[in-house]
Amino acid sequence: MPNIEYAVEMTDVCKNYGLLQANKDVNIKVIKGEIHAIVGENGAGKTTLTSILYGLVAPSSGNVKVNGRPVKISSPKAAIALGIGMVHQHFKLVPNFTVAENICLGQEPLKSLRRVDKKKMIAHARNISEKYGLKVDPEKKVCDLSVGLLQRVEILKALSRGADILILDEPTAVLTPLECQELFKVLRGMSEQGKTVLLITHKLKEVMEVSHHITVLRRGLTMGTVKTSDTDEHRLAGLMMGREADFVPLEKKPQEEEKITFSIRGLQVRDSFNMIKLKDISLDVKAGEILTVAGVEGNGQSELVEALMGFAHIEQGQVLVDGEDIAHQDVRSRRKYCSFIPEDRMKTGLNLAASVHDNLLGGRQRSPEIRRGPFFDYKKSSRLAADLVEKFNIKTAGLDIEASSLSGGNQQKIVVAREMSFGNKVLVVAQPSRGVDIGATNFIHEQLIAARNAGRAVLLISTDLDEVYALSDRIHVLFDGKIVGSFTPDSISQQEIGLYMTGVKGLEGTA
Ligand SMILES: Nc1ncnc2c1ncn2[C@@H]1O[C@H](COP(=O)(O)OP(=O)(O)OP(=O)(O)O)[C@@H](O)[C@H]1O
Ligand SMILES: [Mg+2]
Repeated sequence: MPNIEYAVEMTDVCKNYGLLQANKDVNIKVIKGEIHAIVGENGAGKTTLTSILYGLVAPSSGNVKVNGRPVKISSPKAAIALGIGMVHQHFKLVPNFTVAENICLGQEPLKSLRRVDKKKMIAHARNISEKYGLKVDPEKKVCDLSVGLLQRVEILKALSRGADILILDEPTAVLTPLECQELFKVLRGMSEQGKTVLLITHKLKEVMEVSHHITVLRRGLTMGTVKTSDTDEHRLAGLMMGREADFVPLEKKPQEEEKITFSIRGLQVRDSFNMIKLKDISLDVKAGEILTVAGVEGNGQSELVEALMGFAHIEQGQVLVDGEDIAHQDVRSRRKYCSFIPEDRMKTGLNLAASVHDNLLGGRQRSPEIRRGPFFDYKKSSRLAADLVEKFNIKTAGLDIEASSLSGGNQQKIVVAREMSFGNKVLVVAQPSRGVDIGATNFIHEQLIAARNAGRAVLLISTDLDEVYALSDRIHVLFDGKIVGSFTPDSISQQEIGLYMTGVKGLEGTA
């Protein structure tokens, strides 16, 4: 047998945050040229482990070898010098620069008088883009690109800095099914050219499809590394959670109510550059219904949620709850009728510097649930918060610690738990399962169906077609700020709805 060459070997790696052990004697060996997936529940330690490899986090103890050589990686700069690149979930590109300028940032080719050689820069970007089949126009400004293309630029930037080992932390969360397939093609191509890929994702279907080996983490411990062809989704879920996953299929009550609880009439919204982002959007959500706005990221979804929440100015149109127009009410008044789970929970849903307790109970300050007469009752409020933590399986070292110290997925769960627990008639929910693990996704889906069955009106905004099909009573497709098609899930296939989502179909007849 030929000697196996490892690109990365991490041995007995520990990382402690105070008393919390984010990584406990983690062991992982990544074979050179392979796509190696890292899976685990929210808070299992995946980001911590890869951040140690990329020099963002210093391990408390343990050893790291890269290409067989023991190394100490004290900064991303040191990691880059060792040929390690990382694509974060939140992109770090310069919006006003072109693709080529971003790819070459900090290593621009120069001509005489130390001026940047633009031609060379564009040629370099084009070369590397062609070499890896990551098509993108080098002369386009980054702010004009879709999320899928932004991610390509991030990958190209890492490759341009000589990355042989590429870390991707949840790269597919924001991609359409088609973009995912394209990304996987690129990753396979990189692997064929001898590059090593470390891939973190919650989607086990993807893991099974694209990886060679899989390492499972659970509560900071390594549960082992398996060959992808020797396992299946079910067994992986078992390893991740420590028990067999027995998901009961979601049961929907037949829809009886015809009462419209929530409607949007002729909504028009512009962005800060005065560009129309939503054009004449009208929809009705009945009591006891989940109506979904499906579509590719960046077609007006964020603007829709921001307008409904009261964070974006509504130029025209009405937002009606039981016939009452709330389009011009302030943020707090709207929340009396509607619960909101925004897509960007870090930005608009959470106060990262506040405690888990305060984040969970935000919006309830005046509620009798946490008061005794005129006084705030900490005992009551702690009980309520602890109850939510347990119900939503939020992994936290306590109620009083800062929300910022929770893992990405657990931060998301705080917002979901808070908003779902209000019991409002209207629920506006954007990308509820983004970044959360399969157990939590299933739980959130159950809660949404329960809300629907209890007669609440649910407006779901989702780019994840599996989620759209699992939950929706009806689907509207949003493309370029307009609704371009309306369907029931059993009347259209995922493939065909994809054509509406990308504007191939459905534009006839819309202005
Ligand atoms: N800066 C920090 N301070 C304190 N605790 C932290 C910090 N960063 C992470 N942790 C804790 O370490 C543990 C592992 O977090 P990590 O972000 O690695 O999880 P993850 O597997 O990436 O989860 P997710 O799927 O939710 O992104 C969590 O319990 C988290 O609360
Ligand atoms: Mg993470």
